[in-house]
Formats: sequence, structure tokens, C-alpha cells
Amino acid sequence: MENNATYQLDRERIPQHVAIVMDGNGRWAKLRGKPRLFGHNAGMEALKEIVKRSDVLGVKYLTVYAFSTENWKRPIEEVSGIFKLLIVYMERELDELHANNVKVNIFGDYSKLPKASIDALETALNKTKNNTGLVFNIALNYGGRDEIMRSVRRLAADVRDGKLDPEELTEDMLGAGLYTGGMVDPEVIIRTSGELRLSNFLLWQSAYSEFVFTDVLWPDFTPEEYERCIAEFQGRKRRYGGV
Ligand code: FPP
Repeated sequence: MENNATYQLDRERIPQHVAIVMDGNGRWAKLRGKPRLFGHNAGMEALKEIVKRSDVLGVKYLTVYAFSTENWKRPIEEVSGIFKLLIVYMERELDELHANNVKVNIFGDYSKLPKASIDALETALNKTKNNTGLVFNIALNYGGRDEIMRSVRRLAADVRDGKLDPEELTEDMLGAGLYTGGMVDPEVIIRTSGELRLSNFLLWQSAYSEFVFTDVLWPDFTPEEYERCIAEFQGRKRRYGGV
């Protein structure tokens, strides 16, 4: 089994774009007899360390799935608790992120979040907008199909207005209208907690991504496990449909 193999991280071949589905907060809390929000809080602590390690390793883009378009179905206390954690995270981390030249981006329509969370996010976006180091993308109220639809709708409007001939539409044009426009696609997508799904994350961008699945629950995901996952990715042979 691949998971039992030992991997040696090659610091000369760090992926440019790593995407992570941070899964298992609820189960981590349940195992401790605690409410789900306790797990999300621990998940936030884990995230802090992963952002820092990404920067140290020289990852250029880190994209994390914090809240999906489907997560609204969760109990209201959990949903509002996650949005409050965003505020806590920014209050505690923004100065350090900025000092480390990290640029924060939000993927998804965050206008649907509570005002205080929007304010915290916009403060982070504004403060870090000219930074040139690690690009830290937080997917919030994000869905891959929704993202593709937004880009398609804009292109359809251009066709309607006679600015674009449908025959001239290219993949690059569609890709440019995604939240990741101008970024490289993720070479690797990591999902924690043993679930083997993409769950509407980066559908377009994952066409050639390698998937690394780990049983570790997100709050237990350490920088060491992160490096092991990247090393596992480095052990893959990527062929992009060739031989
Ligand atoms: C998935 O675990 C996790 C989430 C839906 C929320 C992720 C949130 C954080 C990591 C904390 C805050 C984030 C930021 C950006 C500050 P789950 O609840 O689906 O776990 P389960 O599958 O065990 O129930």
C-alpha cells in the first residue's frame, strides 16, 4: 500500500499549487465528545500551521476548501460558528500573514456571509492585495459548478452582444473567468479524513491534478503529514494523457 511507504520530500520539486479539502473536523470533535464547532476551532489551528509551512516550502498558491455552497444545509449554529472563526483567524493571523508577504484571496460569493465576517475578509484582502509571496486562496461559499457557470454566463453575454463568435471560444477564455484566472492549476489536491471524493472543489482546474488521500482528520493534519503528502505526490508519474 502506498500509504505505508516512506517518502522523502524533495525540496527542489515543491508543487506550485496545492489545494486541500480540510475534512474531518466534526468526527474529530465527536471522538472527544465535543460539539462540532470544537472541531472547526481545532481545524483553524491546523490551518495556521499549514499556511506557514506552505510559505516556508515555497508553495506559490495554497487553496483551501473552508465552506462549500452545500454547507449552508448544516445547522445554523455550526454555519455561523464557522463564519465567526474566520474573524478570529484574521484577527490573530493577518499581521503575520502580511509580514510574510502572503496575499489572501477569496474564491466564492462571500457577499452572503454575515457583515462582520465580510468586513474581516475585506480587511485581509485590502491589506494584502499588493503582496507578492504565497497566494492563500480561501474557498468560501464556493462550488466548482457554480464557478464554471459564472464564467460561462459572462462568455454567453459576450456572444449575445456580438463581441464573441462561439467558434472562437477557447478553454483559456473559460479558465480566465474562474477564480483561479491567471494561476497555474493545482498539481496536487489533498483530502483528509479518508473520504475519497472531490465534492465540487476545483472541477475545471483538477483535470490533471494528482489526488492524495490521507486518513488523518483535519485537526490532526500536521506540517509533517503535509510534507508526507507532498512527497507522496512527488512519487507519482504524471503523464497528462501521454505515455
Ligand atoms: C469539514 O469537516 C470542514 C469544514 C466544512 C469547515 C472547515 C473549516 C475550518 C478548517 C476552520 C475555519 C477556517 C478558516 C479559513 C479560518 P466536517 O465538518 O465536514 O467534518 P466531518 O466530515 O467529520 O463531519
